[in-house]
Amino acid sequence: MKIMRVDGLTSFHEEIEGVVTEASHAPSIHDTQPWHWLVADRRLELFADPSRLLGAVDPDGRQLLISCGAALYYARIALRLRGFVPDVVVLPGGPGYGGLDRDLAGKEPLATIRINEARPPDAWERSLGTAVHLGHAGHAGRGPIQPTPDPTGVLAALQDAAATEDAWLATLDDTGTDDHLATNAPSARPGQVDGQDSIVVLGTAADRPIDRMAAGQALARVLLSATALSVAACPIGHAEDIDAIRVVLREILHSTGTVQMVIRLGLPAAGGVPAEPAPRRPLSEVLTISD
Ligand SMILES: Cc1cc2nc3c(=O)[nH]c(=O)nc-3n(C[C@H](O)[C@H](O)[C@H](O)COP(=O)(O)O)c2cc1C
Repeated sequence: MKIMRVDGLTSFHEEIEGVVTEASHAPSIHDTQPWHWLVADRRLELFADPSRLLGAVDPDGRQLLISCGAALYYARIALRLRGFVPDVVVLPGGPGYGGLDRDLAGKEPLATIRINEARPPDAWERSLGTAVHLGHAGHAGRGPIQPTPDPTGVLAALQDAAATEDAWLATLDDTGTDDHLATNAPSARPGQVDGQDSIVVLGTAADRPIDRMAAGQALARVLLSATALSVAACPIGHAEDIDAIRVVLREILHSTGTVQMVIRLGLPAAGGVPAEPAPRRPLSEVLTISD
């Protein structure tokens, strides 16, 4: 990592180091943290790190891109916490660019964030920022949870969080009229199965790289929102390692979209102790400062 010691820029770089450290708290497939950040001038760029691809379970990098999208959302919140207004362009090279086909040198970023404006964060952004700082959104749900149909009534808020990032969040008995559902779909699950409603499904309209990046940002927004609302949540990527399972889930939901992630939701069980966060890669491995 190269740090140029120039007044003004130095303190900006220090802020960015804090942002990238917090972005690294994002969940990633098998904790691979498959991202790399480049900072130049007042611009932060996110790249995929193809060397972190898990070819056996994620051959086309779908979950790698979801992980990078999650890191992008964490970076957006970390920037807002510091009063920066991130101006984000996702996949500036086009919606179909997956980020995996070239060496890091000279390749297209997954996202470019320009940081020119300033505005103090609002109360909700500060709550999400606290969840980022806690560094445990997404793993609290791996501990013991109490299955509840709609934990503390937050489902609508989490659905809004997903929709704001161009994704949808559905329960397994969702028969609503959301865009992703086929019209006149019959009830997917007439009978209640105890505990099943603590599983929600995150999806997107299609499955291009841009949709996968949206799924990652939506996943992060849902996990951080859940944490801010005292609900435990955990992504279950294993459930979709096999494409056939995603197809079955899509059929259960009568969805016209693409299933991207299953998420477990619930109230933390009384007396349950959440697992410690996994260690993150050192900053020197995930950030290059170039000026
Ligand atoms: C695409 C994706 C798939 C994931 N799949 C699983 C999973 O199947 N099971 C699980 O417990 N966590 C899953 N996670 C969460 C990661 O395992 C977790 O973020 C990572 O191991 C770091 O752990 P920590 O956030 O608790 O520190 C997934 C996260 C992402 C972004």
